[in-house]
Parts: sequence; structure tokens; C-alpha cells
Amino acid sequence: MQAAIMGYGTIGSGVAEVLEENREQIVKKVGEGIELKYILDIRDSIPEHNDILIHDFSLIENDPEIELVIETMGGIHPAYEYIMRLLEKGKHVVTSNKAVVDACGSKLIRTASEHQCNFYFEASVGGGIPVIRTIYHNYAGEKLTEITGILNGTTNYILTKMRESGAGFAETLREAQKLGYAEQDPSSDIDGFDTSRKTAILLSMASGNRCRHEDIYTEGIRDVSDIDIAYARKLSRNIRLLGSVQAVEEKYFAYVAPVLIARADPLYMVDGVFNGIRIVGNCLGTTMLYGMGAGKLPTASAVVSDIIAAARHKSHFQGIGWSEKMIEIEPMGSNAFRYLIRVEGMPDGMEQDIREYFLEDGSSWEPVLLDGRTDEFGIMTDVMFESDFHENRQEFEEKTGRRIFHFLRALG
Ligand SMILES: NC(=O)c1ccc[n+]([C@@H]2O[C@H](COP(=O)([O-])OP(=O)(O)OC[C@H]3O[C@@H](n4cnc5c(N)ncnc54)[C@H](OP(=O)(O)O)[C@@H]3O)[C@@H](O)[C@H]2O)c1
Repeated sequence: MQAAIMGYGTIGSGVAEVLEENREQIVKKVGEGIELKYILDIRDSIPEHNDILIHDFSLIENDPEIELVIETMGGIHPAYEYIMRLLEKGKHVVTSNKAVVDACGSKLIRTASEHQCNFYFEASVGGGIPVIRTIYHNYAGEKLTEITGILNGTTNYILTKMRESGAGFAETLREAQKLGYAEQDPSSDIDGFDTSRKTAILLSMASGNRCRHEDIYTEGIRDVSDIDIAYARKLSRNIRLLGSVQAVEEKYFAYVAPVLIARADPLYMVDGVFNGIRIVGNCLGTTMLYGMGAGKLPTASAVVSDIIAAARHKSHFQGIGWSEKMIEIEPMGSNAFRYLIRVEGMPDGMEQDIREYFLEDGSSWEPVLLDGRTDEFGIMTDVMFESDFHENRQEFEEKTGRRIFHFLRALG
């Protein structure tokens, strides 16, 4: 099967490497080799592949021998236009590009179905973790009620390091940038947009309908401080940036936010650059996928799994994806959490007011004090709807004159 790669960067070069390294195995699985006929890139020279390097997309588009194209350029434009034109010609397309899948996935999936070819995007969520195909194939008979994941290795690395070293966010980010674990412009990762795009793709996969990442409440980790981490430690919890979707009686809930998770949660042990995705189904119960959510070879491996699927399903549309019908996501206020609140002053004399706004009858009164700090204390609230929490928080501050310096949502 003749193929082309568009974008020979980290992932594109990784795909070429995996195709070469695992050539025999791929031939055995597919019955034929995957031969790279073109590599499209901006740069003038790729020493190991100058013989097939091109700069003109139309060569790929108009070459009838090319049956499969791997898009690893990133970004929405011109990736979207290129993929669309290839699908319209009936060529299979495999991408690792979450931006284009999130923004234009439903149109591309429809076009693939109209032209009886395939558009695969396994590597767009969870890098080397096979979550898209797992949802599509393995959980096809399940009603999925929740998918919650640590979907961004950069933020997970920063939060893990903050806990290990006790250092603040800015210092840890600088260190991560020095080591190459965070981009020089880290906004897409640390402000949660990367996780939000992946969460939108997971919700679209699970619901079968389209969801926009702009409709998902998104909060990053910029405001997580070393003091928050110290409270997490005292509570035997970890703070993790979660992307979460839930389906309850035809209603969809979703958010991206840093959340305190308890030791009993399988996501608790997902440290460093690793990703974990907890999936709950009505008959399945809870399962978790774990692995490298990014990186050259793990991501390339997922792309190659799509290449093999394309070679195996050469002559028909396989149906992985979702429709163009939009789903509505319930407002953030209708999600329920426990909250760690950091209250100004010491806890003496505060029990009654805290109980009135944040604890149910019979809940125990367990203020959390940090060593050496006398200016604030922490309390874990009972489970509350987010809208009630904000209302109560405001009323509490007005009534008591005590500020709530910061809060963190908590699960479990
Ligand atoms: N890196 C990861 O761990 C990872 C994991 C999962 C998914 N992804 C996704 O995979 C995609 C690729 O990521 P990457 O890390 O491989 O990026 P990258 O290293 O920047 O590679 C992109 C390559 O595409 C080339 N390119 C950009 N625009 C082009 C155009 N219009 N025509 C031809 N070539 C073009 C770039 O050339 P120049 O360098 O000259 O601009 C570069 O060689 C992104 O969508 C990313 O989100 C990455």
C-alpha cells in the first residue's frame, strides 16, 4: 500500500521509524507492506528522506497510487483542507492532530463515510493509549456513564514535581521547560485547552454526537500553589488536572479542572508524564487505561495502529466517529463535588458557621492545619452542586467577614 506523510516533525518522523522498525510484523498483519512514497514538509531538506521529500500537496492529492495519508502537521489550517480533499478522493487519512479532530471531526467523518474511506484519529487522545478504539469496539455494547482522565502529560509532570519538591508553580514550570517537558509557550497545556480538546473528542466518541471544546468549562493549573499541594499532602490526596464527562439520563456533564483525588481512585497513582483514563460503563463497572499520553514513539505507535486498520478496511468506511448533531452540555453549576476551602484565620469558633454553609448534619468537624501557618485553615466540605457552593461561599464570607482564599474541587 502506497502512503504519504504530511508533516515530518516529532510524530511524523516517529511514524516513519515505527514503519521501518516493525516492517516484518506489519506485513504479517496486513498482508502487504506500507511503502512511503512522499513526505510533505515545509523544510528544504530531510537528509534521510530527501528522495521522497516534496513541498507540493497536489502531488499526493492527484497520485492515484496513494491510498493512505498520514497527517502529522498539527493545527487546523491547512490540515483540515488537505484532509478534506484527500477524503473526497477516497483516500484513507490517519491523523494525530487533536485540534483538527475537535474542530472539524464530524465533517471529516461524514466525508469519509460518503466516499467509503476511513478517517482515523487514535493518537489524538491519550497518545499511545488505545482509548478511541476501545470505546468504539470494546465498549460498543456498554452505556458509558463516565470517562475521567489525566490527559495531559505536561501538567501531570508539573503537579507531580510540585508535590515531590514542595516548590511553587512558576518555578516548577520553568524547570519543566528547561527539561523539555513543557513548551516555551505553555498556555495550551497549563490553561487546560489541550485537555479540553481531548475531553471533547472523548465525549463525542462516547455519545455518538458532536461536542465542542468551547462548551466545556475549562480551568487550568496556573492557580495551583505550593500551599494547595501541602493541603493535598495532609489529606493524603493528589491534585490532578482532570478532563471528565458524565452521562446521566440523556444529560451530559463535562469539565476540565484541577481536582483533589483520593488514594482509592485508580487515577491517584498516575504520576509524571503518564496519562490515565478511567472509564465507567453500566455493566462493565470501572476500568482504567494507563500509559504514555505523548512522545514520539508511543504516539507514532498509535498512528501505526490506525495505518494497519486502514489497510485492513481498505474498501469500506468503518464507522469510527460521531454524527454532526450537537449535544448540549449542562452548565458547570450542575456538577457536584466536595471542596477543599482555605479559610482565613484559625478554626476556633468557626464550626457553627462552616456547618451552616458547607457541612451536612452529622458530618465530622475536621479542620486541616498546615505546619507553621496561623493565617488560614482548610476544611473539606460535603458534596454540593457547584452553583450552591459559590452561593454559599459568598454568603459565608459576607456573614463571617472571613475570606476563603482559595478552593479546590475534590472527588471521593
Ligand atoms: N508531540 C507529541 O507528543 C504529540 C502527541 C500526540 C499528538 N500530537 C499531535 O501530533 C501533531 C504533530 O505534532 P508534532 O509534535 O510532531 O509537531 P512538530 O514536531 O511541530 O511537527 C510538525 C511538522 O509538520 C510540518 N508542517 C507544519 N505545517 C506544514 C505544512 N503546511 N505543510 C507541510 N509541513 C508542515 C512542520 O514543519 P516546520 O517544523 O518547518 O514548521 C513540522 O516538521 C500535532 O497535531 C500534535 O498535537 C503530538
